[in-house]
Amino acid sequence: MDQTEVVKPETLDDLIKTLHKIFESDCINVEEVQDIMESYESKPQEWMKYAKFDQYRYTRNLVDEGNGKFNLMILCWGEGHGSSIHDHTNSHCFMKLLQGQLKETLFKWPDSKSHGEMIQRSQRILQENKVAYINDSIGLHRVENVSHTECAVSLHLYSPPFQTCQTFDQRTGF
Ligand SMILES: [Fe+2]
Repeated sequence: MDQTEVVKPETLDDLIKTLHKIFESDCINVEEVQDIMESYESKPQEWMKYAKFDQYRYTRNLVDEGNGKFNLMILCWGEGHGSSIHDHTNSHCFMKLLQGQLKETLFKWPDSKSHGEMIQRSQRILQENKVAYINDSIGLHRVENVSHTECAVSLHLYSPPFQTCQTFDQRTGF
């Protein structure tokens, strides 16, 4: 059997089990992870217990520690909540929309010699069940729930896991 052939995960638990298998290997196929995360159809009753909202800012809730190979988190975005512009500390970052929509804005890394307004590369709206991917060689990003009426929930996989990232001021690049 083709080793890269993966069965569609029916539940969040299935998805987590499949991810554990994929990440046993040290060599990660980005497209494979993206496909498998995309093929899981979000069912709120399966992830509700991780979805804790805060009135003032988005929250990060640990779902699974991936045998030390990855962290899986659920982020809960209230109306108008957004992240800073940030990097991903040399990790892979996959982001799947479980509910609602999020706007992702990509930026170039600031030039260390000439700081100033950061250069925006692209912008897109991520739809439910879709999976976005970023790493430091692609650039930096900001993620926002621009809706004034709907909250958003996203599932993030970071590999290898990391604790802190760098954040950047859009106007200065510092
Ligand atoms: Fe990010």
